[in-house]
Amino acid sequence: MSGKRMRAAVAAAVALSMVTAITLSACQRGGQDATADVPAAQASQITPVIPLPAKVQAREGAFVLDVSTRLQAAGGNADAARIARDFAARLQRLRGFAPNVDASGNAAGEAAHTVVFAIDPQAALPNDEAYNLDIGPQGARIEARAPAGLFYGAVTLWQLATADGGRGAATIAAQRIEDAPRFGWRGLMLDSARHFQSVEQVKTLIDQMALHKLNTFHWHLTDDQGWRIEIKKYPKLTQVGSCRIPAGASGHDPVTGAPIPYCGYYTQEQIREVVRYAAERYVTIVPEIEMPGHAQAAIAAYPELGVSDVLKAPPPVSPDWGVHTYLFNTQDSTFVFLEDVLAEVTALFPGRYIHIGGDEAAKDQWQASPSIQAQKTALGLKDEMAMQSWFVARIEKYLGSHNRSLIGWDEILEGGLPPRATVMSWRGIKGAVEAARAGHDVVLAPAPDLYFDHVQSDNDDEATGRLAAMTLKSVYGFEPVPAELTPDQAKHVLGAQANLWTEHKRSFEAVERAYFPRTAALAEAVWSPKGARDWDGFLRRLVPQMGRYQAQKVQASDAAFAVRFEVERDGQGQPLLKLSNQVGFGQIRYLEGKGELSTQSPLYGAPLALRPPTVFQAATYVDGRALSAPRRYAPADLAALSQRTGNRLRQCKGGLNLRMEDDAPADGIGGRSPRATLLADVFDPCWIYEGAALDQVGAIEVRVGQVPFNFQLWHDTPKVVTRAANGPEGALEVRADTCQGAPIAVLPLGSARRTAGLTTLRAKLAPTAGTHDLCLVFASGSHDPLWAIERVTLQPR
Ligand code: ACM
Repeated sequence: MSGKRMRAAVAAAVALSMVTAITLSACQRGGQDATADVPAAQASQITPVIPLPAKVQAREGAFVLDVSTRLQAAGGNADAARIARDFAARLQRLRGFAPNVDASGNAAGEAAHTVVFAIDPQAALPNDEAYNLDIGPQGARIEARAPAGLFYGAVTLWQLATADGGRGAATIAAQRIEDAPRFGWRGLMLDSARHFQSVEQVKTLIDQMALHKLNTFHWHLTDDQGWRIEIKKYPKLTQVGSCRIPAGASGHDPVTGAPIPYCGYYTQEQIREVVRYAAERYVTIVPEIEMPGHAQAAIAAYPELGVSDVLKAPPPVSPDWGVHTYLFNTQDSTFVFLEDVLAEVTALFPGRYIHIGGDEAAKDQWQASPSIQAQKTALGLKDEMAMQSWFVARIEKYLGSHNRSLIGWDEILEGGLPPRATVMSWRGIKGAVEAARAGHDVVLAPAPDLYFDHVQSDNDDEATGRLAAMTLKSVYGFEPVPAELTPDQAKHVLGAQANLWTEHKRSFEAVERAYFPRTAALAEAVWSPKGARDWDGFLRRLVPQMGRYQAQKVQASDAAFAVRFEVERDGQGQPLLKLSNQVGFGQIRYLEGKGELSTQSPLYGAPLALRPPTVFQAATYVDGRALSAPRRYAPADLAALSQRTGNRLRQCKGGLNLRMEDDAPADGIGGRSPRATLLADVFDPCWIYEGAALDQVGAIEVRVGQVPFNFQLWHDTPKVVTRAANGPEGALEVRADTCQGAPIAVLPLGSARRTAGLTTLRAKLAPTAGTHDLCLVFASGSHDPLWAIERVTLQPR
């Protein structure tokens, strides 16, 4: 380190030593109120750590961690040595050096320039995940009463050592940290059924969870669209149930028409490997085996598990999304099957909880089945809800007798619930409130707040997913304990998790972008004391965290910081370009014309004069670091200023708004271009171009695409709007001011029907004065395929 950098670091540390200790109480369950003696924001400066620790006390001086630092496992403890080695390896990856680990147990070694990793079961710490970290100018000491706490202390030190984003020796402000989690359940859920992730990818995710101090990985392994876990006794579950033929263009070879199955499952050996890997990072895996619904893949493999007296034929593994009606039947033989499956599952996963799903079990088939109705009557059950309750109770009894606890989605509350069952609240927080009041433990995983399949911005290059946007800020603001609960009831709140459903996440890159950095926001909500929540401080601490993601090749989304371009008009009607980002944080730098954007590029202050053709680039910077990739705005002509992507159009109703990936490349030619993203309301695809100034407009150009309508909407199916075809091949209709009446333009779909990619349609507009809202709908004669608008351009006369 240069003398200058060292002096600056020490001066900063000394200045901050005035900071009063930040004292926040922490507890494992119930997350009772905690109070901050001073604003937690101050801790963000000396402790650039996510999640923010419970208590930070600044000290004088700074510690220089370098290659000559010794990492000492106190007493030669094997766990401590392993955690020290893991720390060294992580340091190697980000700073380029790995200090030696001393596992000799030689106490005399606790000398200068040492980081001591100590596990002391007698240490005065609140729980096994708590730790103290003392950093002085001469060295550091991490102390915990169990390996998990020591690991978290090491993660904190690693974050402190990697905050400046540099290589080589790290200077860390001297401080004492006393830390413990607010909640015992800090989780992420991954859906490996709708789209599959490799073992390596799952491990990457688990590793990142550990670095966010999350400890529960809920693995969604079975669903209508795929059975992803090998069960030795029932090989067809994976032979048949792990493959589906996708809907739309991606399901068939474009030349031969041959089906292209989408397959994937984890062998038991792979699962054991993942469980081991997670345990080394203090992450427990909660496997989910869905029942009685979301069972179509299992029934495709073993049709006798289905409601045989109503099935006309065995179902396929489903290519559709949504709520399906295939339920397991309720015969004893099916319980034998389920218990056999659970026996293999519990042998693989050592954790306490087994998730049995229980959500969205549409009861149509049970209602239609004479045998199930007769069984219901014989059992004296009031209705199908009670029947599901009876089903869950049988499974709970099995799990209980094998020393495991049942957890299920909040539907398991309907019709009554075994007393020991734990409820995962997903339909908002209602289920959590009801369950906690009834004395059940609960985990908060509410939609939409913690549904990471929701998009995170309305940026044009936002990923596919469900709307509305669940932004970084909204996740950060999530409070796991519902306000309705009394302090006693709140003790049933085990914690919270975010869920990632993967219908619209085909790639692991999309998975990572959905999780990060929102997982950093979640981590703070479930770990840090309630009183320590500080959005501005979090954003400041996120700057080094974005650097850590990048250095570890984690594909985090920069949606919160991406620069957005908006065209405004000045008093004379001249166009101006306004730059902003979602969080209003950092400095925006821009460049017009050729060149490479850098920290030396002009700083954006006020809207810029805009004269097409031109090219702007812009990005957000903080402390000389780019927080977003550059974004470009390149209007070729004046018409381009009126261009709006589908994302900037309003959905007429907003029943089920999805940003979907086209199932073919944008140009319709395999492999030559990325797929397009199309935003539509699945129930009623209808768009409004608001405030179109039509005086000078002579034509409208609309780029359109199609996606397969592969949604099962159960009782909501009648709400799907289908418009009669306009012309032999249908047409896009444009209306002014209203969505009824005579169109002002009709754009036939013929050319678009003959390509799997995007097509630009064009039509003249009759001279129209003034500003109007334009309503655009497809009169195509069918809701399948689902036609959607990629962008609209108004062409001058
Ligand atoms: C769920 O989102 N169906 C739990």
